[in-house]
Amino acid sequence: MSGETAGTQTVQEGARLIDGSAVAKKVRDQVAVDVAALRARGVVPGLTVVLVGDDPASAVYVGGKEKASREAGMAGETIRLPSTTSQAELLALIDQLNHDETVHGILVQMPLPKQIDPETVIDRISPTKDVDGFHPVNVGKLLIGNTDGFVPCTPAGVQVLLGEYGVRTSGAHCVVIGRSTIVGKPMAALMMQPGPLADATVTVCHSRTRDLAEQTRQADILIAAVGRAQLVTAPMVKPGAVVIDVGMNRIADASTKSGTRLVGDVDFEDVRRVASLITPVPRGVGPMTIAMLLRNTVTAAQRSVRA
Ligand code: GUN
Repeated sequence: MSGETAGTQTVQEGARLIDGSAVAKKVRDQVAVDVAALRARGVVPGLTVVLVGDDPASAVYVGGKEKASREAGMAGETIRLPSTTSQAELLALIDQLNHDETVHGILVQMPLPKQIDPETVIDRISPTKDVDGFHPVNVGKLLIGNTDGFVPCTPAGVQVLLGEYGVRTSGAHCVVIGRSTIVGKPMAALMMQPGPLADATVTVCHSRTRDLAEQTRQADILIAAVGRAQLVTAPMVKPGAVVIDVGMNRIADASTKSGTRLVGDVDFEDVRRVASLITPVPRGVGPMTIAMLLRNTVTAAQRSVRA
């Protein structure tokens, strides 16, 4: 914890920052070592990202995934399809990728154009190549506590951050704000599992929670993943809590060149005064998502060798 000893008193100076970029680099460096070991055995881990349509935000995310996989020494391919692509065409492509032995991980970028049902698409990806961890088989394995599936990248990344900063999770009260399939639900499932970096008592809050602040003030570990800019303020946080901000929201800011600014679900400047550890936005949880995607892809490749 940050703070200064003045005589016998500790003067709290505010939260220590969790450096997501540094931890993500550490994960990616280890991934690169594992990729090299696989390459030495003649296996090049391959991640294929499928992008349908021309959503600008998705194009940025996909570009980042492609670059990161190449930097880690993996074979990364992005297949870009027009926004008019039919569901049948996308399913046919997934079938082809499922059977391609050089492809270890398949990621179909969300959201998809409205003529395509995302659940049908996710169901079609082989669970052994579902490095997003979205397939029902992998969702079920996570809930059961079976570790031979894939854990969704963002919650997995949050758990790694907690570990790197020595956060004690066993017996801690972890409050998750948000119940999305991508973050909130798997995050809660991970933290309640028996075992290291887990064993927490978990509360999940959402839009129907009666008194959100009353719940969040109980949290030793507060994880905000709800997509509402600066929702969490200092009075909602127990002094000394660990605060993890998964949000990425663009808000108007006339002082910047673009006229907008990226903020999380947490009012960072307010909450850092009371928290003991906090993730910033950007450079907090965000970089971990891609790092864990690479980790999952290498795991898929390792399993394919053993299978
Ligand atoms: N769109 C935004 N985040 C994600 C993600 O983690 N995986 C996929 N497939 N699409 C996304």
